[in-house]
Amino acid sequence: MSWAFPAINGSLPAEEGGPRNLPGSTKAYTPQQIDDLSNPPDWYPDEHAPAPQIVQHGHAGALACGACHLMSGEGHPESAGLTGFTAEYIIRQMADFKSGARKDAARMNGIAKELSDEETRQAGEWFATLKPTVWTKVMEAATVPKTFVGQGRMRFALAAGGTEPIGNRIITLPQDQSKATKRDPHSGFIAYVPPGSIAKGEALIKGGSGKTIACNICHGDSLKGLGNVPRLAGLHPIYVARQLFLFRDGTRNGGDAQLMKKPVAQLTDEDIVAIAAYVGSLSPVK
Ligand code: HEC
Ligand code: HEC
Repeated sequence: MSWAFPAINGSLPAEEGGPRNLPGSTKAYTPQQIDDLSNPPDWYPDEHAPAPQIVQHGHAGALACGACHLMSGEGHPESAGLTGFTAEYIIRQMADFKSGARKDAARMNGIAKELSDEETRQAGEWFATLKPTVWTKVMEAATVPKTFVGQGRMRFALAAGGTEPIGNRIITLPQDQSKATKRDPHSGFIAYVPPGSIAKGEALIKGGSGKTIACNICHGDSLKGLGNVPRLAGLHPIYVARQLFLFRDGTRNGGDAQLMKKPVAQLTDEDIVAIAAYVGSLSPVK
């Protein structure tokens, strides 16, 4: 399951320093500016309400949310999408990261500890204004490009090419590598999943198998969210798989995470891949 917890094992070629642009944006940022986790690029400022300071400008260990979650909130596969949730849900997750009841080996525990309550509230309320879009295309494939995990813990195809069997993995790649590394909020991802996994995931969660509990009871019709229970539809499939592993082994263990114990208790790694493939393939648009 290491594919769900990407760790850097390679790097993209170094880039020249000049300013970069994106279609339809009047902004220009150098690669150094794009990767400044305290001051991320805001390519299309007209597409969202004015953001609170902490979303765009970090301080010390409190890195700016927009760097990893993007200024659209859709995020990269190694982080998380933050659109389509209530402010209460987001604020509760931050409290769980702060207390350690929810652990993220990468980033979030340290960030949550550095934030003031006011910054957490402002960020939660702002992300809750963002509408989810279809951001990841889920495709079944028996073989996938050979890949490595590079800068920002994002997975990229090897320049030398080649393919390999997918096995029991989800392999997510940028739809456009150059745009994704610019933190472009318009350029999404492709998640390759094993053949047959989408239908298998659907059958598993619609119940009847006795292996799990119908997710829509809590996550709402079409899994688009219900009150403060988060949407599942259209989340990054590797993020969904990662969370199911973390609920199963108790690493995500906040008060509300207790409700996820039974649904995951009997799931195998293969079941988790299938469920993540299915829910990731659903449209989150209301
Ligand atoms: C350096 C990268 C980075 C930055 C900056 C960052 N995050 Fe995160 N965030 C992550 C990662 C990685 C995860 C996924 C954790 C996991 O897989 O359990 C995440 C997950 C989350 C989640 C959980 C989402 C869910 O669906 O439960 C919330 C909420 C969140 N971040 C809020 C924030 C806020 C608010 C900020 C700004 C103060 C922020 N993040 C800044 C990397 C980052
Ligand atoms: C009894 C209610 C309940 C059922 C049934 C349930 N969930 Fe959940 N689920 C929750 C709650 C509540 C949370 C938020 C947990 C937290 O705050 O840590 C959650 C969170 C999640 C998350 C994390 C989302 C995120 O953005 O981090 C995933 C993934 C998930 N559930 C998948 C499923 C799947 C798949 C099923 C069906 C097989 C399912 N859940 C069934 C209540 C439920």
